[in-house]
Amino acid sequence: MYDNINLDNIDLSIAPPAEEPARQYYFMAKCREVIRDIRQEMGRDLTACTQTFGCQMNARDSEKLSGILKSVGFIETDSEEADFVIYNTCTVRDNANQRVFGRLGVLNGYKKKNPWMKVALCGCMMQEDLVIRKLRKSYGFVDLVFGTHNLYKFAELLYRCYTEKGMLVDIWEDTDKIVEDLPVERKYPFKSGVNIMFGCNNFCSYCIVPYVRGRERSRAPEEILREIRNLAADGVKEVMLLGQNVNSYGKEPKNTGFMSFPELLQEVEKIDGIERIRFMTSHPKDLSDELIQVMKASKKICRHLHLPLQSGSTRILEKMNRRYTKESYLALAEKIRREIPDISLTTDIIVGFPGETGEDAEETIDVIRKVQFDNAFTFVYSKRTGTPAAAMEQVPEQEVRENFDKVLACVQETARERVKRFEGRILPVLVEEVNEQDASLMTGRLSNNTVVHFPGDASLIGQIVDVRLERCEGFYYIGTRVLQ
Ligand code: SAH
Ligand code: SF4
Ligand code: F3S
Repeated sequence: MYDNINLDNIDLSIAPPAEEPARQYYFMAKCREVIRDIRQEMGRDLTACTQTFGCQMNARDSEKLSGILKSVGFIETDSEEADFVIYNTCTVRDNANQRVFGRLGVLNGYKKKNPWMKVALCGCMMQEDLVIRKLRKSYGFVDLVFGTHNLYKFAELLYRCYTEKGMLVDIWEDTDKIVEDLPVERKYPFKSGVNIMFGCNNFCSYCIVPYVRGRERSRAPEEILREIRNLAADGVKEVMLLGQNVNSYGKEPKNTGFMSFPELLQEVEKIDGIERIRFMTSHPKDLSDELIQVMKASKKICRHLHLPLQSGSTRILEKMNRRYTKESYLALAEKIRREIPDISLTTDIIVGFPGETGEDAEETIDVIRKVQFDNAFTFVYSKRTGTPAAAMEQVPEQEVRENFDKVLACVQETARERVKRFEGRILPVLVEEVNEQDASLMTGRLSNNTVVHFPGDASLIGQIVDVRLERCEGFYYIGTRVLQ
């Protein structure tokens, strides 16, 4: 475990070790020296700011970046006027991509005022050649660029960034390596994401993730369970098991003898101290009856399943390479509801995939009406360079807009009705934070992931308390705490 590593005991007079993670420990110790020297010259501590774009997997990666930054001597800050700013980027849709370029301009302004400042970029967007070319051409002030496959080398890259001149770019095509035991600085003390697999092999025709995150590979179950036991010992009550398609956990790399996803869940269930288990994301094509039965029998697995639909039209689903039909999705949703009636189903929907007509959008609306999702994240299709769908004939923007508005209206109407079903009930809430708008309220989540606000104070953060759900306001509840 990283906790047992003492950076002071590393011999820096010898060459860096070749094996990982020892090599990174060596460079963390080296970085500490560099940062110490700069601190002396500046006469103050160095600050670092990590900004995350994109999904839960990026959020978890950012905790790994923060872990390194903290252990080499940076003070973490939310302000981008820091001495070291790193953007962990997302490229799943073009707007995420554009936001990064927009904000880089602002960082350049800060950098002109602070000669010590360094700007770093990493994450999914950096795996695209076009992006790297653009950075080299027009964003020369960026100091460090790396991708998703070599994030575990951050300490080494950080050292080089502070000791070499010019823009340092290190992007790998792919990797089959998983490096464990590097420091992590968790955002929340009481909950944590846990990677169970990396990459994706599904190649949905619109999606860039398989190209930027590489081939699917599962972590060894004993490593996952060891990490969760350590998290529990550190006060974590809720874990979210993370993967692009957790239902195929254990299948890649082949012949490892790893257990299946439902078996893994049963092992996590046995860990004392863990009270809630979540996971993201489940691909409908691989969701097994075994998983449903394990969820049904579990006391800890949350009553929530995020089951991305993408489209309700079988014709479009086929073009998307999703490998299920409207009918099989509906049958699956019905089966889950039959077995676990109180479960919340949420989903992702794409509107405007190439060739989608008004009739196809109506099929999607039909599924929303029938399934009654608790929430649906609805996205306008975004053309991603290099994906098969980018070469298909695109739908005119006006038509996409009209269909999008119809789908969204249906989502809002049905979700409002569905979320309300617990009004008046008393249910346990894991308290997460002080409400952002009203400091007299606390904000937490039900097992089914619905957000609840109720009067309380910050001492409740991290506790699971009973709350009466007084009033449903669309997607969330206002409640009052019940002492028993
Ligand atoms: N692995 C997950 C999804 C990861 S990406 C799964 O298969 O469900 C998260 C969501 O982004 C997807 O579910 C999809 O709805 C959306 N998305 C992915 N590519 C997109 C694109 N090119 N345009 C619009 N939305 C997209
Ligand atoms: Fe993208 Fe499909 Fe993989 Fe999800 S399963 S990450 S949508 S390719
Ligand atoms: Fe975005 Fe990468 Fe996640 S593209 S959605 S951050 S896997």
